[in-house]
Amino acid sequence: MKLDIKVIKENMNNNLFCGIKYFDTITSTNELALNLTRDESKEGLVILSEEQTRGRGRLNRNWYSKKEEGLWFSLILKPEKKIERLPLLTLIGALAVHSAINKLDIKTVLKWPNDILYKNKKLCGVLSQSKIKGSKLERAVVGIGINVNQKKFPDDIKKQAISLRIIKNHFIQREKLLSNILDNFAFYYSLYRTEKYNKIIKQWKEKMSMMDKVITVKNINNKLVYGKVVDISNKGELILKKQDGKIEKYIAGDVSINKNSLRF
Ligand code: BTN
Repeated sequence: MKLDIKVIKENMNNNLFCGIKYFDTITSTNELALNLTRDESKEGLVILSEEQTRGRGRLNRNWYSKKEEGLWFSLILKPEKKIERLPLLTLIGALAVHSAINKLDIKTVLKWPNDILYKNKKLCGVLSQSKIKGSKLERAVVGIGINVNQKKFPDDIKKQAISLRIIKNHFIQREKLLSNILDNFAFYYSLYRTEKYNKIIKQWKEKMSMMDKVITVKNINNKLVYGKVVDISNKGELILKKQDGKIEKYIAGDVSINKNSLRF
């Protein structure tokens, strides 16, 4: 069943999201959002598609986006904050989805920096990208993919992926879920705009699965770093305490929780 945009708008209650550009099929909502002209790309515009033929995840991974089975959308934002605060938008995206899913009575955890997991399987991912001119941000694009009504997944991802439908064992109406996510996002974004970063981080830490756990981070140079998660900074960095007691901060990286953390 196709999305009913009228229902999404009727159920939404915020002043941020001003319009929805809806497609039946598109390469990637993030790609389109980044390629719009400056005039077309208003803050609060939502790009939404039933299907993506070239959906992308972090590290240029493929994002499985089959027709009408999920919510694949991108939010255009133009915050007047320093570029160093941009990673917080990814955290806000994940928080907004986490709260909406919680309303469906599904308990999920956040995995830094951009995943929502249910029993260690991926339900949602967030990919934030930006267009920067000189040192000024022209627009930020927060892309969100949620597995909603898939009954099964292709072999290559079936061990790692899960959908709301598989969890609940029934069809999930996507419209109200999306309205709720957009309202939640608008709420967290107002905290961001008013620089209440600590409130955002406090929420994140409560919902994340890896606080005080020993993890491995693959950093941007593909180096593996081993340490205990001690905090998240107000810029969204993961703060690790290494075995030698040194504290290190990461703004990006691929994280896995170590099953055997006896060495620490
Ligand atoms: C990840 O977990 O690696 C991030 C996945 C992000 C997927 C969404 S779907 C909508 C938007 N368009 C894309 O091409 N990617 C994001």
